[in-house]
Amino acid sequence: MTTNDDQNLDPAALSPLWQPTVVGDLQLPHRLAMAPMTRDRSHESGVPSDMNARYYAQRASMALIITEGTQPSADGQGYLLTPGIYHDDHIDGWRAVTDAVHEAGGRIVIQLMHVGRVSHPQNTPHGRQAVAPSSVAPASPMFTAAGMQPIPEPRDLSTDEVRGVVEEFRLAARAAIAAGADGVEIHSANGYLLQQFLSNNANQRTDEYGGSIANRIRLSVEVAAAVADEIGAGRTGIRVSPGSPLNDIVEHDSDELYSALVSALAPLNLAYLHIASGGGDAPLLRKLRSLWPNTLLLNRGGVDLETRVRDIEDGLADVVTVGSLALANPDLVERLKSGASLNDPDQRTFYGGDERGYLDYPTLELAAVE
Ligand SMILES: Cc1cc2nc3c(=O)[nH]c(=O)nc-3n(C[C@H](O)[C@H](O)[C@H](O)COP(=O)(O)O)c2cc1C
Repeated sequence: MTTNDDQNLDPAALSPLWQPTVVGDLQLPHRLAMAPMTRDRSHESGVPSDMNARYYAQRASMALIITEGTQPSADGQGYLLTPGIYHDDHIDGWRAVTDAVHEAGGRIVIQLMHVGRVSHPQNTPHGRQAVAPSSVAPASPMFTAAGMQPIPEPRDLSTDEVRGVVEEFRLAARAAIAAGADGVEIHSANGYLLQQFLSNNANQRTDEYGGSIANRIRLSVEVAAAVADEIGAGRTGIRVSPGSPLNDIVEHDSDELYSALVSALAPLNLAYLHIASGGGDAPLLRKLRSLWPNTLLLNRGGVDLETRVRDIEDGLADVVTVGSLALANPDLVERLKSGASLNDPDQRTFYGGDERGYLDYPTLELAAVE
């Protein structure tokens, strides 16, 4: 396993991370959390595997683990071997994961991710056409067992079916709590179903879920309200990615759109808002921070950690989330506190495969004896 000595970070610059904080019903011992990451290593049935439990338990020293995207229904799946949370067997599988994390001293919320149109029938056990706000396929291709393929046109959901999606999220949240999770994160980011409804291009609807900003934000707000009603607002978080073009999303009006969305979510008193953002949109981030009364988690993709920590000092974020650093360093917190070098993430093993690149990133302790 390679290490990257250039990534040696000054422990003093990171000290704002090590203050405790509160996220809804949860007390966090510090402010460095694990961002959600799909790893495609669950069983085909959507039941989490023993490997999944060991992977998350290895990372229990993160302030909070946000799991990989987890489908709230069979139609919510788009990638191979992703976990589900809508069946008793899923609950049993997740129970082994949450127990392992709790025994290791950690906290874990399950990310509820309905992919909508970002799906290929060959990637799901049911093989059905994907569902979406409108019958508009994303231009981006996707990985399948047969290699990269164009994404076929999805089927548009009827208005009643959209209301059914709200119930799917509600039941999935209930199942997540039954599985011992500390809460859920609603995925309204990165071009998946809820952001498809927010967008200008994937949503061509003429009912109350399409057209105006008030209509396009409706589904995300209804899902958040239903989940908070079901499991408690203090256990409910939501992730957004304002203006992100991921998965062929176009938003012409991100500023107005997210201001309206965050203003509509604020009265729900959710545990947290999680913003995924690159480096460049500071004015909108500041605006959203001012509109959001509760804890804000910020994921500045690809930005160095010292810059991300300054977001805490500047009051922009309460908690910093990191993806690939946590993936590659099971003992990230210990490494950062001691100024040790970091393992490099290996992109070839991000999605799918066995224990390699999943369970075998060394801890400092292991590296010392090897
Ligand atoms: C392997 C991998 C899988 C990811 N899967 C998800 C996911 O399931 N849900 C999600 O919201 N974001 C997902 N992301 C995005 C990350 O949460 C995060 O926003 C991104 O990696 C940028 O942060 P970083 O620079 O700290 O890694 C994934 C990223 C990676 C690297």
